[in-house]
Amino acid sequence: MPPVGLLEDKVIAVTGAGRGIGRAVALACAAEGAAVIVNDYGVGIDGSEPSSEVADAVVTEIEAAGGTAIAVADDIATLDAGERIVSTAVDKFGRIDGAVCVAGILRERMLFNMSEQEWDGVIDTHLKGTFSVFRAASAVMRKQEGGGSLVAFTSGVGMWGSVAQANYAAAKGGVVALMRSAAVGLQRYGVTANAIAPVANTRMSANVPGGTAETGEAEDVAPMVVYLLSDAARDVTGQTYTVVGGKVALWSQPREIRSIVKEGRWTPQELAEKLPSALGVDRMPMFEYIEMMQKKAAKAE
Ligand SMILES: NC(=O)c1ccc[n+]([C@@H]2O[C@H](COP(=O)([O-])OP(=O)(O)OC[C@H]3O[C@@H](n4cnc5c(N)ncnc54)[C@H](O)[C@@H]3O)[C@@H](O)[C@H]2O)c1
Repeated sequence: MPPVGLLEDKVIAVTGAGRGIGRAVALACAAEGAAVIVNDYGVGIDGSEPSSEVADAVVTEIEAAGGTAIAVADDIATLDAGERIVSTAVDKFGRIDGAVCVAGILRERMLFNMSEQEWDGVIDTHLKGTFSVFRAASAVMRKQEGGGSLVAFTSGVGMWGSVAQANYAAAKGGVVALMRSAAVGLQRYGVTANAIAPVANTRMSANVPGGTAETGEAEDVAPMVVYLLSDAARDVTGQTYTVVGGKVALWSQPREIRSIVKEGRWTPQELAEKLPSALGVDRMPMFEYIEMMQKKAAKAE
């Protein structure tokens, strides 16, 4: 008898499943026995020129390997698309056990030059695109036996900030806050929510100026997503994990790190006097990262 897959009898929806990391996740879920809803709007890296062929191609690939999949080639930035993905899962397979929100685009520009269209497109795809699926999926998961698993895709820049990606960093920071809110709001219904901050060679990472410090392949990210969707991770919620190559790292939860307290209200003058020595600042890791990448580039010249 063949070994039983980690996701046998589960129904999993993956957005942005036509290319890159989403495709690898969809293939891995199918290989572990899940029926997969393959969502991809089939757009260019900036969100332009949609095509249904990209989602269809992954469904064909899954079926050729003996798996089960259905394409939904909608724009995930609409609530209707979230509903359609989930209703497709429920109508065809009777339930939805996991929803993985991988879809993403980039529109890079310095903050002072960024247009409303560049801002809105990126926020809509990443943040609203995660909300649209989490909302529709959790409405079903909270009522079904066994609950369900939500997995969001963030980025290190969502925690650290980014020089010319204020839209993307804001969207990815929002995705983590959304994931944490889903984790605390849905715990009582047996629904988990977690986030992955990946680094992998895809068309998106090829766009990062100066490259990334670490790198890996899209297929390296998929096993962690499969684990989070499986029954083995039923107690894991509210967490953010980096996955790059063979490295999996856990991010800390944000906490106050030190404080100053007085009876009543501080005056600006008192703060100017006391704060630098008593509280100081917590240096941004992104400044260290930029310095490290600059040194690396200088060495390579
Ligand atoms: N590749 C990396 O190193 C890296 C680093 C940090 C975060 N991420 C995140 O991982 C995720 C996957 O990135 P990737 O590198 O595989 O990108 P990719 O460009 O290879 O794939 C993204 C897919 O999302 C689809 N998509 C875009 N807009 C959509 C929409 N509105 N509705 C449905 N589908 C849509 C695209 O058609 C594409 O197939 C993204 O959320 C990205 O921000 C990637």
